[in-house]
Amino acid sequence: MKDNGLQKTGPIGVFDSGYGGLTILDKIRAQMPEYDYLYLGDNARTPYGPRSFEVVYEFTLQAVKKLFELGCPLVILACNTASAKALRTIQQNDLPTIDPTRRVLGVIRPTVECIGNLTTSKHVGILATSGTIKSESYLLEVQKLFPEISVTGEACPMWVPLVENNEYHTEGADYFVQKHVQHLLGKDPDIDTLILGCTHYPLLLDKIKQYTPSRVQIVAQGEYVARSLQDYLHRHPEMDERCTKEGICRFLTTESEEKFKESASIFLRQDNISVERITLE
Ligand code: DGL
Repeated sequence: MKDNGLQKTGPIGVFDSGYGGLTILDKIRAQMPEYDYLYLGDNARTPYGPRSFEVVYEFTLQAVKKLFELGCPLVILACNTASAKALRTIQQNDLPTIDPTRRVLGVIRPTVECIGNLTTSKHVGILATSGTIKSESYLLEVQKLFPEISVTGEACPMWVPLVENNEYHTEGADYFVQKHVQHLLGKDPDIDTLILGCTHYPLLLDKIKQYTPSRVQIVAQGEYVARSLQDYLHRHPEMDERCTKEGICRFLTTESEEKFKESASIFLRQDNISVERITLE
């Protein structure tokens, strides 16, 4: 089935600047194994965290257009930085002209929706990239949904490079994890819930736990995003029908295929992944 030259049915697209979105994909596949997925990692241009709004928007739009061209009716921005800096503009300005029947969803809203049930002290900390923290997206979303909750953010600019370069289990990683967790809890000692507001951070979870007092719970967003997507598809059967369901998952990267395979297999605990290199423009 084709529409405006684009295939109408296809896999769910999952996009991240690099490998981080694989932590989201992993949870989505666990929740909805019957669907097809097409993952795109812009590994050649990662990290997005320190980049300007304009550049993150430009790169994210290129990725979304590519996933649409490849038939995805629905794209998940499995990247907080792209969700913070590009999602709204793409939804409001670009989708109506590209194809108003396709959808792009992010990860910040589904994460914020769960916060109300998690915090008792009503003090929440967000660990994220500099871009996400500067955008104040978490703060604004929490203020909309739960005005009684106070949010304190901490930018952790070294965490994504540690994960992307496979250095997340080293002593160097300990230094940077301890520094930011302590700094955040120093800014607001009443925090009882820490949100990992970057899809790369679940890889650092053991270290984050090590430096976080046990009274503080640490929340990774993958399961919340997966549940929210499932709920979205229940509420939108017209979109659900367009998502193909053969349980196939393919991967695209803007960097070398070999490099992607090696790192992605660590994230997914799975060998034999089918990956293809593409260019975005
Ligand atoms: N994993 C991404 C996020 O959730 C982006 C990291 C980056 O490219 O800086 O923010």
